[in-house]
Amino acid sequence: MTITIAPGVFDILPQEPQEQWRSSHLWNFIEDKIRQTATDYGFQEMRTPIFERTELFCRGVGDTTDIVSKEMYTFLDKGNRSMSLRPEGTASAMRAFIEHKLYQAAPIHKLYYIGPMFRYERTQAGRYRQHHQFGAEVIGNASPEQDVELIDMLHTLYNRLGLKNLKVNINSIGDVESRLAFRQALIDYLRKYANELSADSKIRLETNPLRILDSKDPKDWEITAGAPSILDFLNDECKDHFQSVQKLLQSLNIPFTVTPTLVRGLDYYNKTVYEIVAGELGSQNSVAGGGRYDGLLKTLGGPDLPATGFATGIERVIQTMLKQQVPLPPPYAPEIFLIAMGEEAKTACFKILHSLRQCNISAQMDFSSKKLNKLMQYANQIRAAHVIIVGDNELATGEIEIKEMATGTTRKLPLNHITQILGDFRRPK
Ligand code: HAM
Repeated sequence: MTITIAPGVFDILPQEPQEQWRSSHLWNFIEDKIRQTATDYGFQEMRTPIFERTELFCRGVGDTTDIVSKEMYTFLDKGNRSMSLRPEGTASAMRAFIEHKLYQAAPIHKLYYIGPMFRYERTQAGRYRQHHQFGAEVIGNASPEQDVELIDMLHTLYNRLGLKNLKVNINSIGDVESRLAFRQALIDYLRKYANELSADSKIRLETNPLRILDSKDPKDWEITAGAPSILDFLNDECKDHFQSVQKLLQSLNIPFTVTPTLVRGLDYYNKTVYEIVAGELGSQNSVAGGGRYDGLLKTLGGPDLPATGFATGIERVIQTMLKQQVPLPPPYAPEIFLIAMGEEAKTACFKILHSLRQCNISAQMDFSSKKLNKLMQYANQIRAAHVIIVGDNELATGEIEIKEMATGTTRKLPLNHITQILGDFRRPK
């Protein structure tokens, strides 16, 4: 019996005509755009392990969040230590920041990461047990400009990828003091409807009542529609911060909707929170989520520094690109495909192949001794832009013919100077 892939995860493969979103060239294209954009905004990459001590996520993300209480892949290692595959990147980024005392090096840190995250969720379209995030975190700046710079970076990235009509929902969940007052008012209100709430929300009423506000269960919606609004509980400082965020977004012409029910599913947030949603994605429509988390570093035993960040799900970005039919990068295709007819030609072609690649020209050759028509078929299949056939005759005359596959036109080139002459096919370094 063959062994198949585990549920909720997927392979990323070279060319996937049926499941285009899993094509590695699309992933490479997006990752390149992410790196360019992050660099333009002054971010530097960090890479942390995909597993950490379980305690990091319990303390960092929150014991009562769904992500930690229900969805973590947790195991004991051979030393009997509880470890968990990372369900998200912020806690790990902060752990590394503290552990390496990065705060001693500079007052502000702008970090980004790209990588897999693991959540044991009920699988459905757009929701995976291993998904990939591009996340960005800024440590050391408490200003509203810093929140908006991050939203602007996401907006720029999506524009560069050709995405349109993504909706930015923003809210402020205040500081600890305003949130505690709001929490109590919310509990008082929801208690009146406790029997009518969905099963999940009944539990949340005791553990994490704010999450009832963004319940996905329609049973809860009528009740939450009449609930108090966090925005009425913000103190002056939080109110001013939120007003400034809105003004700054307007100044950059980034449309947004103030959504008082947006609370996010991770415990570390304060003040600004946001989600970016794509109408095309159905129920799993959140392309990105983020916000400010000024208390997290201290909670994890680090310095008391403000911080803010986001993460965007790469699967959902790709799926939105495909749904919106944005122009996609062409798939991999070599510039030159070499065909050797005979053993002597094979030796010569093998050396030419090496020289072409030294000149940054993407070239391929089939090392088996297939028939010419089979090799031409293969060259077409891999979309080679040009084909060069070398046989005894070419070796004798020292002249080869290069065929442009799209037009069928041919031209002659001296074998000895092939790499110089083909310089126009060279990839920029
Ligand atoms: P999050 O909202 O849990 O935030 O995840 C960020 C994004 O990852 C989501 O908007 C979604 O696009 C994608 N995502 C999450 N779970 C799945 C899944 N099961 N399948 C596919 N895509 C998924 C965080 O993780 C925070 N750490 C973001 C952050 C960084 N906040 C501050 N800094």
